[in-house]
Amino acid sequence: SATMMWDFWSLNPESLHQVLILMSDRGTPYGHRHMHGFGSHTFSMINAQNERVWVKFHLKSKQGIKNFTNDEAVKMAGENPDFAQEDLCNAIEEGNFPKWTMYIQVMTEEQARDFRWNPFDITKVWFQSDFPLIEVGEMELNEVPVNYFAHVEQSIFSPSNLIDGISFSPDKMLQGRLFSYPDAHRYRVGVNAHLLEVNRCPFAVNNYQRDGFMADSSHYQDKPNYHPNSFDDIKPDPAYKSFEYELDSVHVASYNRNENDDDHYTQPGLLYTKAMNTEDRQNLVNNIVGSMKGITGPKKDEIINRQLCHFFRANIELGMKVASQLNVVIDANMMNHTK
Ligand code: HEM
Repeated sequence: SATMMWDFWSLNPESLHQVLILMSDRGTPYGHRHMHGFGSHTFSMINAQNERVWVKFHLKSKQGIKNFTNDEAVKMAGENPDFAQEDLCNAIEEGNFPKWTMYIQVMTEEQARDFRWNPFDITKVWFQSDFPLIEVGEMELNEVPVNYFAHVEQSIFSPSNLIDGISFSPDKMLQGRLFSYPDAHRYRVGVNAHLLEVNRCPFAVNNYQRDGFMADSSHYQDKPNYHPNSFDDIKPDPAYKSFEYELDSVHVASYNRNENDDDHYTQPGLLYTKAMNTEDRQNLVNNIVGSMKGITGPKKDEIINRQLCHFFRANIELGMKVASQLNVVIDANMMNHTK
């Protein structure tokens, strides 16, 4: 429902940056091969000296960015709704393996204290001019799943599955996801989902989570399912102890998105003026207007006006263009909202 969508977004102005990306042609990518990937959340990395830095992950498509316009995407959705999946599988089967360069952005704890935005706010990016991309590797997709149900439907991904050296941050949305995904897996696939062929960690992992429906004894055999016990020699390795958080630091305690952290407009404004060209901006406005025309019901004007205020605050031209194409007459008072 366009009404509910724009109602929610207009009440959550921190969504604006992502809404502009979604409504641009990046929201209708030409398949999976031509999209970048973002870890989005702030994670942490801990080195051998036990020093922690905050990190964001990026995967940049080596195939380059390629998008459909909204009209092309609507046409393709009717002609071949499986286009994106087919395009990916065909390329891999032809040996034309898609690749992404992997980068990290690094922020020290000291830089985090002085950062203009909350470093753990997923709705804010870290400018690459301040926190440059550091190349760390490459991801290649070179195998098509053999059995769709076993290898795709039953696969489980969670941001809580991490490897040594990478850890979490106080990013609130990340904290929610850490528990929510494994909970969904236990419900969607089963309590032993992590032991299925597609999900099982190829390295030794001992966590005693194993019994219940469809238990697989190949890893655990007759060992006890409790810890500590007198029968196996598995002991926690203190080297993997969780890193400490200063939970009374300002970053965790004082965050309120609309009181003391309400700059939801600078970054969307820069996206519009600096990252987009004239055609991108035109398509963005057309897509927004096409979608907002679907807002109906008794709250229609309230929702449209509230969202227009956000566009104006990000960029006056953007606000004017959307307003005029929606046939909204701009009240001079509305301009007073702009910062
Ligand atoms: C950065 C924000 C988020 C992104 C990019 C994201 C992305 C995704 C994606 C791509 C999927 C897989 C959908 C599919 O299989 O078709 C998914 C599933 C899911 N998401 Fe999120 N999500 C986000 C935030 C959240 C939050 C805040 C929660 C709850 C606290 C949540 C809970 C879930 C759950 C429970 C599933 C199903 C997991 C499963 O059964 O495997 N997500 N999400």
